[in-house]
Amino acid sequence: MYNTDKVHKPMNSCSTRDIHSWFGQYTRQHLLRNRKDPYPVSMKIIHCQRVRREAVLLGKALNLEGPDLCVLEAAGLLHDIGRFQQYSRYKTFVDAISANHAELGAQVLRDNVILKKFSEEEEDRIIKAVSYHNRATLPSNESDDVLFLTRIIRDADKLDIWRVFIDHNKLSKDEQNSTIDLDLPDTSVYSEKALADIMSQKIVDYRHVVNKNDFALMRLGWVYDINFTHTFKEILKRNYLVSLKLPLPQNDKIKAAFKAAQSYVEKKAEVPL
Ligand SMILES: [Fe+2]
Repeated sequence: MYNTDKVHKPMNSCSTRDIHSWFGQYTRQHLLRNRKDPYPVSMKIIHCQRVRREAVLLGKALNLEGPDLCVLEAAGLLHDIGRFQQYSRYKTFVDAISANHAELGAQVLRDNVILKKFSEEEEDRIIKAVSYHNRATLPSNESDDVLFLTRIIRDADKLDIWRVFIDHNKLSKDEQNSTIDLDLPDTSVYSEKALADIMSQKIVDYRHVVNKNDFALMRLGWVYDINFTHTFKEILKRNYLVSLKLPLPQNDKIKAAFKAAQSYVEKKAEVPL
């Protein structure tokens, strides 16, 4: 059993091996609980591991090192830890009809006391970054350190979610797991309000997302919530916007929204780090 004695120790070396091993044990339990349909859980396991990697690469681009990189690695791996309990309990990733997965994740981290190798300040920073990572806007009364970590996790998360959806859309309709698209209806229409949000360089209001196309537009709108030059460069390098456009109706309005987003990303990618 995991030792739940809460004793914070100063970190002499930066190793997250124990956190990786806890993550492996914890997520295996959820794979077992969902063995009849393991895909949503296994997809989230891979996503967590890839967000960890994206976060570390971004941290290195920002010249982070030592314990700060360790904190970042833990926050990246654990940012969606609430997804496992959410899926096991409710069989959905829709927060609105189940639970806020970020707050659930923060609670899982507190209950399992897995961050005791970190100082109290570092543990607090990780738990707050996990609980803020899915918010539409970040709290204004939070410390710079917490907001910095949260912004890195949010960028890393988006980089990998784009990958998840691009891969998902390469599958035939029969092969696609509807949980990934939040079980939204597959129609040929889209919300003009969602498009208007994007044309004003805003993230799409979740209330405007009622079908798969709106959800695809919402994913495009995330470019307006990216924080770091490194991330903009990665979006360009991976040609994400071209792939994100494919499942949407190819009309002039949609094309204009993608063209505007592309030039926004290109401009931001030029900003010095
Ligand atoms: Fe995530």
